[in-house]
Amino acid sequence: MTRRTLLVSLLVLVLAAAQVLGQGCPPPSNIPVGSCAPKAGTATNFAGDPGPMRVRKSIYTLNSTELAELRLAFQKLRALPSTDPRSWMAQGNVHCWYCAGDNSTIPDVHGNWAFMPWHRDYLYVLEKILGKLVNNPNFAIPYWDWNTPDTPGCTGHLRVPPPYLGSTNNSLFDCYRVVTPTSTMSNSSVGAARVTQILNASNTFALFFGSPTVSAALWPGPHGYVHLFVGNSVNLNVAKQDMGVLETASRDPLFWAHHANIDRLWDVWVAKYGTPVYPTGFLNQNWTFWNQDQKLLRFSGGDAANRATRLKYRYAPPCGEAPVQATPAPPPKPPEMVSMTPQPQTFRTEAKATGRTFKIGPNSGTHVVVNLENVTAPADEAAVLRVFVNKPNANAGMTEDSHLVQELFIVPGRTPGTGHAGHQHSFNFKIVLPEAIAAEVEKAKGNVPVTIVPVASTPKGVLSAAPKQVRVKMAKPYITVE
Ligand code: C2O
Repeated sequence: MTRRTLLVSLLVLVLAAAQVLGQGCPPPSNIPVGSCAPKAGTATNFAGDPGPMRVRKSIYTLNSTELAELRLAFQKLRALPSTDPRSWMAQGNVHCWYCAGDNSTIPDVHGNWAFMPWHRDYLYVLEKILGKLVNNPNFAIPYWDWNTPDTPGCTGHLRVPPPYLGSTNNSLFDCYRVVTPTSTMSNSSVGAARVTQILNASNTFALFFGSPTVSAALWPGPHGYVHLFVGNSVNLNVAKQDMGVLETASRDPLFWAHHANIDRLWDVWVAKYGTPVYPTGFLNQNWTFWNQDQKLLRFSGGDAANRATRLKYRYAPPCGEAPVQATPAPPPKPPEMVSMTPQPQTFRTEAKATGRTFKIGPNSGTHVVVNLENVTAPADEAAVLRVFVNKPNANAGMTEDSHLVQELFIVPGRTPGTGHAGHQHSFNFKIVLPEAIAAEVEKAKGNVPVTIVPVASTPKGVLSAAPKQVRVKMAKPYITVE
C-alpha cells in the first residue's frame, strides 16, 4: 500500500465513523446555507381546495396504518430532489424566507398577526404535498397536543411523541434535536392550565391574533417553549439547527405536528368565543407557496380564516378531550429602553390612561394589561424571561407562583455564522392579568412592581438558573386598562 492510498483509506474510515456517530447528521456548520429565497415564479390566486374534508387527528390517536402512511409521506418528501420546490429543503427555506430570510423586505410572519394565518396556509400546502406523495386525498397531518392532560391509555403529552423518536431511518426523526425520549416539558409552561389561562385572557380578536405590530397570544409562550425544548434545550446562547432556530425549524417533522396544535387552538378559540370579525387588513395579508402540483399559488389571511370552506380540513378532538373553560378574565405606548441583566429587575408601573377606569369583575368587560414593548433579542440567541406582577422578590426558581403572569420563550431567528441577515426581532406583548392579580393592581391603582426574571437552564435542563448574560432590551413595562 502506498503512502497515498493509506492516507485515502484512513480518511474514508474517519468519514465513515463520523457518519455512524452522527447518524448521518452533517455537523451544523456543513449545512448548506446562503440564500433561502424560494424558486421564482408568477403566482396565481389559490382557488380553494376542491377535495374532500380532511380530518387532522392527535398523534396519540393514530393507528398503525395511519402512522405508516405518515412515515411514508415524509420519507417521500425527503427523497424529492432539492431542486423541486416542494422538497424537504425547499419547505425549510420557505420558513427561513418568511422569518429570517436574507431579504429583509419580506415581512416577518412571527411577531405579529401574520403568525396564525401564515402558518395555517403553510401547513395546508405541506399537507397537500404529502397527500399527493402518498396518493391519498384524505391524508391529514397529525397534531402534537402537548397541552392535553394525561388520561388513562393516553399519556406522555409532555414528551416527544414516540413515533418521532428513533434514528434517521425513521423519516419522522431529526438528528439535530437535543431532547431525549424521556425529556419532559414543563407542565406549567405548556400544559392545560397554561393554555386555558391564555385562552381565557385573550378574549378579543386583537388579544389572541395580535395586530400588525403586536404578537399573537400563543407565539411567545407555549409555541416558543416547544421550539426551544426540542431544538435548543432552552440552553441560552446555544443556537442549534432545526427546531431551535426559526431559520431551519420546519426541517424537523415535529414542527408540523407542533404547529398543527397551535393551529387547532385557533379553532378552540373560535369554539369558545365565536367567529370574530376578522379585520380587512388581517384577511388581505397574502403570501405565495409552491403547491403539490408545483404551481406557485397566492394564499391569504382570508383563506386561513375560512378554513372549513377554503382549506377543507377540521380537527378531531384529542383523546380525553381537554375541556376549555368558559370563564372570561380581565386584559398604550412610550419606550425608554432598558437592558435586561441576569438578575431579576423590578419596575414600578404607572397606569396609563385609556379612558377606562379600573373596575374588575366577571362582567366588567375590562382587562388589566401589562404592556411589554420593543422587546428585542439578538437574532441568533434564545432568551427566556419570566414576568411577575406584584412579586418584587421573584427569582428564577419560582415556576408555580400565582404572580408569574407570563413566560416568554423567544426563539432565535437564525444560526450564528450562516450569513442570513435575519430580522431584528422586536416584539410587543400584552399580558392580560388573571382576575386575582388584576384585583391587586386595581387596589394599588396601577402602581405595582413588575419583575422581569431572565432564566437559563441548569445542566439538568430545568429552567431555574440565572443566565450568565442577557442581551435583551425592552421598554419599561406599563399597565393599561382595556
Ligand atoms: Cu414559524 Cu414555530 O415558527
